[in-house]
Amino acid sequence: MKNRVITVIAAFMIGLTLTACGSGEPASAPSIAETDKAAVQEKLNKRESKSDETQADDNESDESTAATHAETDTPTDSDGNNILVAYFSRADENYNVGTIDKGNTQIVAEFIASEVGADSFHIETVTPYPADYDDCCDVAKQELADKARPEIQGGVENMEQYDIVFLGYPIWWGDMPMAVYTFMDNYDFSDKVVIPFNTHEGSGESGTYSAIGSYLPNAQVLDGMAIQGQTAQEFSSDTQQSVRDWLDGLGF
Ligand SMILES: Cc1cc2nc3c(=O)[nH]c(=O)nc-3n(C[C@H](O)[C@H](O)[C@H](O)COP(=O)(O)O)c2cc1C
Repeated sequence: MKNRVITVIAAFMIGLTLTACGSGEPASAPSIAETDKAAVQEKLNKRESKSDETQADDNESDESTAATHAETDTPTDSDGNNILVAYFSRADENYNVGTIDKGNTQIVAEFIASEVGADSFHIETVTPYPADYDDCCDVAKQELADKARPEIQGGVENMEQYDIVFLGYPIWWGDMPMAVYTFMDNYDFSDKVVIPFNTHEGSGESGTYSAIGSYLPNAQVLDGMAIQGQTAQEFSSDTQQSVRDWLDGLGF
């Protein structure tokens, strides 16, 4: 089985090399469309005015409206915060990195959340994926074939408050993990700006950014950033710099 998966991924990697992107190097920030910058700016302006209003209301309520899985390194006062980083990421045994404590995409997600001051939500399935890489590949392949929508643990309490949603995931079998589709099914993304990011081992973004655009026709889905998983795991300061450059380019 492992050989079969490696063959599939190797084919993606050869394709990537031929298109001159290379892997194992820190990702360079993608070029950013003016329309994407304008979309972000509009929502950031809204954030500023929301936070002014919130300051005025601060003494009236200190109830947190953060996502239920808000990470500890994100702001504790999320009142008025309109940015969410939602991501799927799996630790345990993985391709190229051995057995890891923290998933590759989670590393990138945490950089983004701390750079932009976002709340975070870790998309985790009720039934966990096998820790063994080959077994996980088998389950993921079957879910893809079945167009499964695995149930997610917990949820985002106040999705309405978020105007910008960073959506992160690894590439699995040339697509997103099916749980990311469950996440998209669970909320109304109308008028939100959705900014994808992903990790991979050779497939790049594998057409997932336009797939998200089709799946969420009422959202404004921007071009995202793809980072090789091993780079995120093993070259964390380079990755952080790439993320920073990308976010700067978007106007954060
Ligand atoms: C089930 C499974 C399928 C995968 N399929 C692909 C693939 O088609 N193309 C690719 O480039 N990488 C593939 N990978 C590698 C992951 O995209 C990569 O290791 C990613 O960084 C994992 O992120 P995570 O640690 O956040 O889950 C696959 C990994 C797994 C576990």
